[in-house]
Amino acid sequence: MYKENLNKFILNQDQKISEALQATNMLGIAFVTADNGKLIGVITDGDIRRAGLRGRSLDSEVSHIMNKDFFYAIDETEDADILKKIPKRVHCIPVVDCEGLLIGYKFFSELTGKNALITGITGQDGAYLAEFLLAKGYTVYGAYRRTSNLTFSRLEYLEIKDKINLIPLDLTDPWSVYNALKISSPSEVYNLAAQSFVQTSFNQPQLTLNINTIGTANVLEAIRYSSPSTKYYQASTSELYGKVHEIPQNEKTPFYPRSPYAISKLAAYWLTVNYREAYGIFACNGILFNHESPIRGYEFVTRKITQGVAAIKTGRDTELHLGNLDAKRDWGYAKDYVESMWLMLQHGEPEDFVIATGKTHTVRDFAEKAFEKAGLDYREYVKVDEKFYRPTEVDLLIGDPSKAKNKLEWNPDQKTTFAELVDMMVVNDLKLLENNA
Ligand code: NAP
Ligand code: GDD
Repeated sequence: MYKENLNKFILNQDQKISEALQATNMLGIAFVTADNGKLIGVITDGDIRRAGLRGRSLDSEVSHIMNKDFFYAIDETEDADILKKIPKRVHCIPVVDCEGLLIGYKFFSELTGKNALITGITGQDGAYLAEFLLAKGYTVYGAYRRTSNLTFSRLEYLEIKDKINLIPLDLTDPWSVYNALKISSPSEVYNLAAQSFVQTSFNQPQLTLNINTIGTANVLEAIRYSSPSTKYYQASTSELYGKVHEIPQNEKTPFYPRSPYAISKLAAYWLTVNYREAYGIFACNGILFNHESPIRGYEFVTRKITQGVAAIKTGRDTELHLGNLDAKRDWGYAKDYVESMWLMLQHGEPEDFVIATGKTHTVRDFAEKAFEKAGLDYREYVKVDEKFYRPTEVDLLIGDPSKAKNKLEWNPDQKTTFAELVDMMVVNDLKLLENNA
C-alpha cells in the first residue's frame, strides 16, 4: 500500500466538479472507487482540467473527463515497483480508497468499460480493429449494411464474430447512423465504412460521394447532436495526395486528388477538421497509406497478385492480368495500422496523422516477390492489360510518419516489413487453395 499525498474529496452525484476544483489543490487526479469497484467520485487538480469542465454536473462531467480529458501517464517519478509491473507510458490511473490510500492502478478501459462503434465492420480494417479493441477490454459494436449475400467471413477468420454486437447501419441513411449511436453509446467511433475501391469510383462517382462524403457528414452530425463527447476517427487516405506535391508526403503536404474516391475522401477529411474546430468534437483524420493483409479485398492489387500466384501455383490458372506495373505504393500491414487509429483517439489533443512505412515499392516489385515466394518467375505469367489502367493514376506514394512516431510512439521500424507482408499473403492464399483442392 502506498500512501499518496492526496486531499480527499468525494463528490456526490449531485455535486459539481467545480466545487471540487475550488476545494482541492493537489497534484494529479484520482478516481475514488467504492468496494465493488464502482466509480463514486473524483479528485482532481484545478488547472489542467478546469477549462474542459465549466462547472457542469458530475453525471456528465465524469464521463466527459474519462472520455476526453483524462490521461495519467506513468513516468520516472512513480514508485519503482509499480513501474516494473506496468509498461512505461501506458495510460492508466491511480485508484485510491476512501482514506486516500493508493490501492493500485487501473487501465482506462477497465474503469470506463468503454464502448466503441466501428462502421465497416465487415471490411478488412473493421475486422482487425475489432480484434484489437476487444483485446483492450472494449465492448465493440460493429455496424454492417444489409446486402443480399451478407458475409462476416473476416470476423469468422479472426474468430471474433460472436464477441461483437452487430448493428445494421447504412452510412447514407442518417437515421440508421443516429440509431447505431443510440444503441451503442460509444465513447469512440471509428468511421471505416466506405466505397473504398478507387477503380469503381470512376464508374460510380455519385455513389462514392454519397457513401464517403455524405455518409461521413451523417456520422459527424449524429455525434454533434446526440453524443458530442464521443471521440471520432475518420479513415482518411494517402489518395488525397494524388499527383504528389512533395516526396515523401506528410501532414502538411498539399492535396491533389486524382479520382472521385479521393475527392470524396478529401471532403470527408475537411468535414472532420471542421467539426473539430466548429463544435469542439474530438475528431481525428488518420491519413493511412495502403495497408494489406491476408483478409484484404480480392480486387486490390496486392491480394489480386497473391491469389493469382496461388491459382497459378496450384494449376488453376496460367496467367495474371494486371494494369500499371510502375505505380508505386507505400504498403504496410493492416493489423499494424489499426493500432494507430486507437492511439490517435488516446492522444491528448485531436490531431491528424500520417501512418505509413516510409518505404515505397512498385506493383512490379510486389508481383516479383510474390511469384518468387512460390518459386515462380512473374515475367512468365503477368500480362499487362490496359483495361486495368485508371483514367488518372496516382504514380507515387511514400509517407513520412515522423509525427506519428514522435507523438503516438507508433513506429513503422518495429512493424511488419514489405517482404514479410508479401510472404504472409502468399502463404495464406496458397493454403486457402490447397485446403480447397
Ligand atoms: P474495405 O475492406 O473495402 O471495407 C469497407 C467497409 O465499408 C465494408 O465493411 C463495407 O461493407 C462498408 N460499407 C461500404 N458502403 C457502406 C455503406 N453505405 N454503409 C455502411 N457500410 C458500408 O475497406 P478497408 O480496406 O477495410 O478500409 C477501411 C477504410 O479505410 C475505408 O474507409 C477506406 O477508404 C480507408 N482506407 C483504406 C486504406 C487501405 O489501404 N486499406 C488506406 C487508407 C484509407 P460491405 O462488406 O457490405 O461492402
Ligand atoms: N486494383 C488493381 N488491379 N490495381 C492495379 C492493377 C490491377 O489489376 N494493376 C495495377 N494496379 C495499380 C493501380 O493502378 C494502383 O496504382 C495500384 O496498383 C494500387 O491499386 P489498389 O490496390 O487498387 O489500391 P489503391 O492504391 O488504388 O487504393 C487503396 O489504397 C488507398 C490508400 O492509398 C485502397 O485501399 C483505398 O481505399 C485507399 O484509400
